[in-house]
Amino acid sequence: MCGIVGYVGNRNAYDILIKGLHRLEYRGYDSAGVALVSPSGKLNVYKSRGKVSNLEDYCKDKDTTGGTGIAHTRWATHGEPSDRNAHPHFSEDEEIALVHNGTIENYKVLKDALIQNGCKFQSETDTEVLVQLIEYIRTHNDCSLLDAVKEALKQVVGAYAIAVIEKNNPDTIIAARKSSPLVIGIGEGEMFLASDATPIVEYTKDVVYVKDNEIAVVSKTEPLKLINLNNEETKVDVKTLQLSISQLEKGGYPHFMLKEIFEQPSTLRDCIRGRVTEEGKKIIISGVLDSKEKFLNAKRIIIVACGTSWHASLIGKYLIQDMCRIPVEVEYASEFRYSNPVLDDRDVVIAVSQSGETADTLAAIQMAHEAGAYVYGISNVVGSSIPRNTDSGTYIHVGPEIGVASTKAFTGQVMVLTLLAMAIAELKGSMPKEELDKIGEEILKIPEYVKQTLELNDQIERLSLIFTYAHNFLYLGRGYSYPVALEGALKLKEISYIHAEGYPAAEMKHGPIALIDAEMPTVIIAPNDHLYEKIVNNVQQVKARHGSVIAIVSEGDKEIKNIADHVIEVPDVPECLTPIITSVPLQLLSYYIAINKGKDVDMPRNLAKSVTVE
Ligand code: AGP
Ligand code: GLU
Repeated sequence: MCGIVGYVGNRNAYDILIKGLHRLEYRGYDSAGVALVSPSGKLNVYKSRGKVSNLEDYCKDKDTTGGTGIAHTRWATHGEPSDRNAHPHFSEDEEIALVHNGTIENYKVLKDALIQNGCKFQSETDTEVLVQLIEYIRTHNDCSLLDAVKEALKQVVGAYAIAVIEKNNPDTIIAARKSSPLVIGIGEGEMFLASDATPIVEYTKDVVYVKDNEIAVVSKTEPLKLINLNNEETKVDVKTLQLSISQLEKGGYPHFMLKEIFEQPSTLRDCIRGRVTEEGKKIIISGVLDSKEKFLNAKRIIIVACGTSWHASLIGKYLIQDMCRIPVEVEYASEFRYSNPVLDDRDVVIAVSQSGETADTLAAIQMAHEAGAYVYGISNVVGSSIPRNTDSGTYIHVGPEIGVASTKAFTGQVMVLTLLAMAIAELKGSMPKEELDKIGEEILKIPEYVKQTLELNDQIERLSLIFTYAHNFLYLGRGYSYPVALEGALKLKEISYIHAEGYPAAEMKHGPIALIDAEMPTVIIAPNDHLYEKIVNNVQQVKARHGSVIAIVSEGDKEIKNIADHVIEVPDVPECLTPIITSVPLQLLSYYIAINKGKDVDMPRNLAKSVTVE
């Protein structure tokens, strides 16, 4: 995701746009840019890689006059962060400029057609295709910018919030949205637009939330006009903002972590978009197709990662071994790099990292390459070091994760590992197609299942009060739920500072069960899977020693709900998809316990969002 801002009125647009970009920088910050229509009728575009402050430095000696402008702070999805990939993007004739939040799934098809018709491109982005398409339609149909935008958007598949300005019509901005957010602020003789209300609220509290498939004609001289792609005017529904600025940056949530937990239905939708098609019967992971021979001939796959990404990688092991029948080893990158590993060119190494900058994981990649292994990256930050140092890879596309405790990136990583395993299994024929299809169908429902799970929020908040003063926690799980137990324990540790340990449930009897007493809460992840009867025994073993059990079970559970002290029922999904669902209540439980203890959940002590040192 990224941030877009627009202004049309009698003030200096540049000042308003830059201030607005600073307010939106939490949404993405790998490059920034601004387009302004100067009083002399020139359309000036200035943009630079890096944070908004870099753009300000760049603009110091530029003409930044004009009362109409659009601006963008980027979170790259197509084309690495660079000056030329930064927004705004010009049409070839430099008559119009456009900023975009979202992804154009069918940009390649559109780009090839435009190139065949003589269009030349400056960037690698999907966004530039849109502005070129709009200009192509406008010049070839001799129509208005509004009509050209309407026609172009009918051809686009994907998500967008866009703002477009044209040199010869400086009093109007054309904006539109589908899936990505867009808010319009109504002032006195001036209009504002942005990805959320934070750049707007200090100027006006009167806002309109643009709906999907609506196009807005934002003019300082005419009332706001909304139309749909069929050219029908739609109702302008003005709301009055109640929130403060800081609350707005968090989308009304008290913390980025809670916001990111609740973003997961939409981030999982973004992660899946364009990758699970034909009602789940077709999985498209371009990185896997590029690496087909490597995966088909791999004698072993080694996954290297740290922290939460290591937990996601463990789930990846179960997925790939189950579906692809390829041996998988999961290594802490920090251990791998010093363990003198035995590697050769028939090994495939997968590096999993949200930030794409973790020093240990980067070092592991370098070792793997030196040994001749093929390296595949799974990251969230486009253009970060790990994607730039791997042979191929897949982005999880969950948008910037600000909270130090990883939540939406974890479920995004697990989703990508699931799709990767399914794509390889289909290539190998190692799993019946009808089984893969069934999982694919269920994957399309995952965002809804996560949304249902988030509705347990109040129950979990109440439950957290009971355990606020616990000193130790145990998290137990088996099979796919064992890494979930590890992740749940890490979430609690890193934000509440309560000691917590994740363990394979069956291992309890080999020592840790000595810890169980009435003072030791035990979280047991026990979904409806092939190990259910075994985990029932583990619950009974803990109860027999007066342990207090919080059980995460599948809806319709019959046995454990009669034994455990506290039961959280989540949607029943195929076994391989349970981690994405069962991890969500554990995110909420750790969040609320930490809040009850007055901890700074977004910036826990001693931690950093990206560990770029050893
Ligand atoms: C997880 O909540 C922590 N923030 C931490 O363990 C993190 O997962 C680890 O540092 C790895 O980071 P990466 O995914 O950016 O490589
Ligand atoms: N897909 C566009 C790009 O990569 C926009 C990304 C964003 O929303 O920032 O430039």
